[in-house]
Amino acid sequence: MKSSNKFKFVGKRQIAVFAASALLPLSSIAASQPPADPDTEQAQRGAYLARAGNCMGCHTTRGGKPYAGGRVLKTPFGEFVSPNITPDNETGIGRWGEEDFWQALHYGKGRDGSYLYPVFPYTEYTKVTRQDADAIFAYLRSLSPIAQSNPPHKISAPYDNQFLLFLWRTWYFKEGVYEPDGSQSDEWNRGNYLVQGLGHCNACHTPRNVWGASQDDKLAGGEIMGTYWYAPSLISPREAGMGEWSVDEIAKLLSTGVTDHAVTSGPMATIVRQSLQYLSKEDMRAMAVYLQSLGEKRGEEAPKKTSPMPERVSKYLALGKPVYEKHCQECHGKSGEGVPGIYPPLAGNRNVTMTSSHNTIRSVLYGGFPPVTAGNPRPYGMPPFQHIIRDNEIAWVVSYIRNTWGNLGSLVSPEEVDASRGNEF
Ligand code: HEC
Ligand code: HEC
Ligand code: HEC
Repeated sequence: MKSSNKFKFVGKRQIAVFAASALLPLSSIAASQPPADPDTEQAQRGAYLARAGNCMGCHTTRGGKPYAGGRVLKTPFGEFVSPNITPDNETGIGRWGEEDFWQALHYGKGRDGSYLYPVFPYTEYTKVTRQDADAIFAYLRSLSPIAQSNPPHKISAPYDNQFLLFLWRTWYFKEGVYEPDGSQSDEWNRGNYLVQGLGHCNACHTPRNVWGASQDDKLAGGEIMGTYWYAPSLISPREAGMGEWSVDEIAKLLSTGVTDHAVTSGPMATIVRQSLQYLSKEDMRAMAVYLQSLGEKRGEEAPKKTSPMPERVSKYLALGKPVYEKHCQECHGKSGEGVPGIYPPLAGNRNVTMTSSHNTIRSVLYGGFPPVTAGNPRPYGMPPFQHIIRDNEIAWVVSYIRNTWGNLGSLVSPEEVDASRGNEF
C-alpha cells in the first residue's frame, strides 16, 4: 500500500473525534443473558438466516468448534481473526443483548462502542431487517457456549487505528435496511434483499479501491483481497452475468454447484457448500430471478477478434497443444467439450476466457472440487498440476485453452503463473 499521504490532513480534529466517540452511548447489559430455547420458531428461522449469511463459514476455524471463531482472514491490511460468537460469557457474546447485536450487524459497532473492521461484512448485513437480525441473535443465543479465546488481529500500521476506521466509515459505509422497490415483484425484491444483504455477494463480486472499500459498480467483478481469486462480474455477459440463463439453471448452479455448462470452484464452491445449498426453493428462485434481471443481454456486442501479436500467439498455441493432449484431454475432451455435469467444458467457457486469468491458472496449479451438495453428492475433481508440469508449460496450456476452439483471451506468461502461487484458499 503506497498512498499513506492520503491522510496528511489527520491533525487536531482527530482528538475531537476520539472525544466524541467516547461519549457514544453504550448499550451495555452487564449481566449474562439466559440461554435462548433452540426450538422456538424464531431461533429456527435464525438458524436458516445464519446459513444464508454464512456466519459459520468465517466464525469457525478449520477443524474448530462451530461459531467459536479463530479463523484467520488475510487481507492487504493485516490478518484478522474472527471472534467467538457463541454465548459464552467471558469469550463469546454471552453478555450481549439484542440491541448490542443489532449495533454490530447493522452499524458495525462492537459492544464497547468501538468500530468493527469491514472484513466482517456489516457493510452488506446493514441491509438485514431488525426482525431477521433478532432471529439470528436468538439462534446464536441458543447454541452451547464454548469457552475459546482467540488471538488478537495482526493489523499492519497505520490501519490499526480507530480514527482511520471512522474516516473509512464516513466515506464508504452507508447504513440502512433494504427498501423494497415498489415497481418490482415480491420475488425480485426478496432476491435483491438476499443478494445485497445476508448473501453478501458484494463482499467478493464488487471491485474494491485501495482502501478495501467496495466501489459503486455493485457486482461488477473484483479481486478477492488477500487471495489470487477473481470473483467475476454478475452483470457482464463476458463474465458471469446471467441475463441469458433460465431461472432454473441459475438456481441449479447456485444450489448444486454444477450445471452442464458451468461449475463453481474455490471460494465460490465454499459458499455453495456452506450456505447457498441450504436456501429454500423459494428463496433460491427469488435470488435467481434477481440475478437474471441484473445480467445484461449480450446484445450487439461482438467479441473482440484481434490479437496483438499473432506470431507469439501461434508459438504459444503450438507449445500448449501437446501439453493439453497429454494432461487434460482425457477429461475435458478433444475439442474442450467436457462431459456434461462431470467435467466442465473449456470451449466457450467464460471462466476460461474472461480478462482475468487468475482463476484458470489456479485451477491448473491446485486442481479443485466442485462443492459437495445434496444435489451433487459425489463431485468429480480435478488433480493439481503444480508438481507435474512446469510453470512455462502451465502458461502454454492456459494460453492454449484461452485461444482455441473459438475461445479468445490474452496470453498468459510463466511469471503470471508464478505470481498466482501461494494464498491457497
Ligand atoms: C467474511 C467473514 C465474516 C462473515 C461472513 C461474518 N463475520 Fe462476523 N466477524 C468477522 C470478523 C473478522 C469480525 C471481527 C471484526 C473486528 O474485530 O473488527 C467479526 C465480528 C462479528 C461480531 C462482533 C463480535 C465481537 O466480539 O465484537 C459479531 C456479533 C458477528 N461478527 C456476527 C456475525 C454474524 C451474525 C454473521 C452472519 C450473518 C457474521 N458475523 C458473518 C468475520 C465475518
Ligand atoms: C468469498 C467470496 C465470494 C462470495 C461471498 C460470493 N462469491 Fe460468487 N464467486 C466467487 C469466486 C472466486 C468465483 C469464481 C470461481 C468460480 O467460477 O466458481 C465466483 C463465481 C460466481 C459465479 C459464476 C460461476 C460460474 O462458474 O459460472 C456466480 C454465478 C456467483 N459467483 C454468484 C454469487 C452469488 C449470487 C453470491 C452471493 C449469494 C456470491 N457469488 C458470493 C467468490 C464469491
Ligand atoms: C481427472 C480429470 C481432469 C483432468 C485430467 C483435468 N481436469 Fe480440469 N477440471 C476437472 C474438473 C472435475 C473440474 C471442476 C473443478 C472445480 O469445480 O473446482 C475442472 C476444472 C477446470 C477448469 C475450471 C473451469 C471453470 O469453469 O471454472 C479449468 C480451466 C481446467 N479444469 C483446465 C484444465 C487443464 C488445462 C488441464 C490439464 C493441464 C485439466 N483441466 C486437467 C477435471 C479434470
